[in-house]
Amino acid sequence: MPIIQAENLSKVFRIPHKDPGVAGAFKAVLRPRFEDKVAVNGISFSVEPGEIVGYIGVNGAGKSTTIKMLTGILMPTRGNVQVLGRDPHRQRVANARDIGVVFGQRSQLWWDLAFIESLNLVAKIYEVPPARYKQLLDQFAETLELGELLRVPIRNMSLGQKMRAELAATLIHAPRIVYLDEPTIGLDLIVKERIREFIKQQNRAAGTTVILTTHDLGDIEELCPRVIIIDAGALIYDGPISTIKARFGKYREITFETLGDASACAVPPGAEIVGAEPRKLTLRFDRTLTTASQVAQAVMNAIEVKDFSLAEPDLASVIKQIYGGALREPVTP
Ligand SMILES: Nc1ncnc2c1ncn2[C@@H]1O[C@H](COP(=O)(O)OP(=O)(O)O)[C@@H](O)[C@H]1O
Ligand SMILES: [Mg+2]
Repeated sequence: MPIIQAENLSKVFRIPHKDPGVAGAFKAVLRPRFEDKVAVNGISFSVEPGEIVGYIGVNGAGKSTTIKMLTGILMPTRGNVQVLGRDPHRQRVANARDIGVVFGQRSQLWWDLAFIESLNLVAKIYEVPPARYKQLLDQFAETLELGELLRVPIRNMSLGQKMRAELAATLIHAPRIVYLDEPTIGLDLIVKERIREFIKQQNRAAGTTVILTTHDLGDIEELCPRVIIIDAGALIYDGPISTIKARFGKYREITFETLGDASACAVPPGAEIVGAEPRKLTLRFDRTLTTASQVAQAVMNAIEVKDFSLAEPDLASVIKQIYGGALREPVTP
């Protein structure tokens, strides 16, 4: 049974149109005109319990609007969505118990309270049993390194500290689904790693279902076996990340550790050098022109090789191709 089911989900915003200047302002009051902005256009998908799904697309593609409809903040213009068998907008209160939401650019915590006081309040509101609260708090404090933060008011925290606090507060009532909208935006690598580890842990240990929007392809690679890609409000791909990588990862890299001088090696057809050190050679090759074993064979014929490794296709370039229009026709995974 899917835990989330979206059918033909659409959101159209009516934006008041105003011509510039005072005359324009009068006109807008006397004869208001509206423009329709289609933010989400007929999206259907379903999510099974325990999945981590990456929801990706360029800025303005409609990711946040979708999340807002899934969480019940916005009502769909057309189509419908069921979360745990409920309509998340009509049954907002019941829905709120089972979900958690984090918007990366906005804090939901009490600005002036020490973080621990915020947590206590959240636990009270959601009626988390005290023993359970303590257990979760200990666990979160460790993974998210909250120790010294508990006494600090949110307003005095750095961006990374705030996000860790936010995540802990969102998950302290053990929601079955969490929606994370750009949770790693603007954070440094170490904090990102911590947050990814925490999300993984919650998913593994508690079976929490995670919907994640992100611009960080590292987040996707580490967390999301499945991605949904949207473009201009429409769904263009829904399936394993590995499928699009295999299909669009035209270039691959192979690195050789050599015993002899690597620069002495002639470049095999279909490949080009992207890095050369005295004992290390990295080649990039086009999978449609040659194969890894042909490239490896050619290099090994020329110089003595100690070891070599093949890198996965680079997700960034794959996603760039897709955003650039490589997925005109939806791909069947
Ligand atoms: N409240 C709103 N009123 C009018 N237009 C909006 C509103 N929210 C979002 N939009 C527009 O809808 C489109 C999708 O926005 P959004 O869902 O925030 O995209 P994303 O999160 O993928 O960057 C954008 O063109 C945006 O300007
Ligand atoms: Mg957004």
